[in-house]
Amino acid sequence: MKIADLKIPGNILLAPMANVTNLPFRLMCKRYGASITYSEMISADAVIYENEKTLSRGMSCEDERPLGIQIFGNSPEIMTKAALRIEEIYQPEIIDINFGCPARLLTKDGCGSALLRSPELIHEIVKELSDDLSTPVTAKIRILEDMEKTLEIAHLIESAGASAITVHGRTRQQQYSGKANHDYVRRIKQELSIPVIANGDVVDEISAKQILEYTECDGIMIGRAAMGNPFLFKRISHFLETGEMLEYNKCSQRITDLREYFRLLEEYDLMHTVHIKAQAQWFTRGMRNGRHIRRSISESDTIEDILQSLDEMCKHAD
Ligand SMILES: Cc1cc2nc3c(=O)[nH]c(=O)nc-3n(C[C@H](O)[C@H](O)[C@H](O)COP(=O)(O)O)c2cc1C
Repeated sequence: MKIADLKIPGNILLAPMANVTNLPFRLMCKRYGASITYSEMISADAVIYENEKTLSRGMSCEDERPLGIQIFGNSPEIMTKAALRIEEIYQPEIIDINFGCPARLLTKDGCGSALLRSPELIHEIVKELSDDLSTPVTAKIRILEDMEKTLEIAHLIESAGASAITVHGRTRQQQYSGKANHDYVRRIKQELSIPVIANGDVVDEISAKQILEYTECDGIMIGRAAMGNPFLFKRISHFLETGEMLEYNKCSQRITDLREYFRLLEEYDLMHTVHIKAQAQWFTRGMRNGRHIRRSISESDTIEDILQSLDEMCKHAD
C-alpha cells in the first residue's frame, strides 16, 4: 500500500487508541506484521504548551517505523503549529487528524467527531496542515447517518490535500455499539482517489478478509480486537497471504506476549504509565478458564506473580 510517496509494507494498520497504543504495544504489533502503527491521540493545545507527558506519546524507535502520529484540536492555526512541532521532534512518516473521537472530553471543545458538523472547518484544517507540512497528512473520520453528507466530508478531506482517509463505519452517536456499516466505507472508496482504509469490527482472519474484499479498500485498521492481542496481526497477515489459519497455542502465546510487553515497558521506562493488572487482563482475554485467570491476576502482588500463576494455569491447560 502507498500513502503519498510512502511505501507501506502490507495493508493491515493498528488503530490509534488512547491509553493503549503506547510504544511497547505498537512495537509488538509491528513485529507481528502491522503495516503501520499510530500513536495515541495528542492534543494540539498540549503540544503548543510543551506538555511533556502529552508530547512523549509520539516517542518512537527505528524498529517501529513507519509511524503515524495522531493529533486532535479545533483550530487550523494551532493544529498546524502543533503538527510542525511534532514534525520537528519526531519526524513521523504520517500525521493523522482525529475527526472521529466521540468522547465528551474532546467534543465539548469542538474537537474529534464534533468537527463532523462543520465540514468547512474540516476542510480548512486539512488544507492548512497539508499545505504547511512536509509530512503526508491523513484523516480519520466516523460516518454520519446521512450517506451524502459523509461523502461530502470525505470529498472535502481529499480536495484539501489529505494523502489518505480512514473511515470508521459507525456514527458518533453509536460510540462503539452496534455494527460498523461498511456500505458507507465501500461507497467512499468508490468515489475517492486517495487511499481509503476501512475501520470497525475487524476481529479475526475471516472478518479481515471479508471487509477488505467487500469495501475494496486499500487497507484495514484494527482497534479493539488488537488490545492485549498483538499476535492478531500475525494471524491475519498469515491468513491473507496463504489462505490458511495459523496454528498456535493461544495460552502460551498470550503469556509470552504479556511477558515481552512488560519487558518493553521496563526498557522504555513506561511501566509507571500503565495499570499493570488491567494490561494483564487484556492479554488474557478470551483464554479458557477466564474467571480463574481474572481472579488470580487481581490477587497477585507483582508482575512476576502474575506471570508465574499464568504459567501454571497454562501448563494445566496444555
Ligand atoms: C480504548 C480506545 C481508545 C481509542 N482512542 C482513539 C484515538 O486516540 N484516536 C482515534 O482516532 N480513535 C480512537 N479509538 C477508536 C479506534 O481507533 C477505532 O476507530 C475503533 O475502536 C473502531 O475500530 P475497532 O472496531 O477495530 O475497535 C479508540 C478506541 C478505543 C477502544
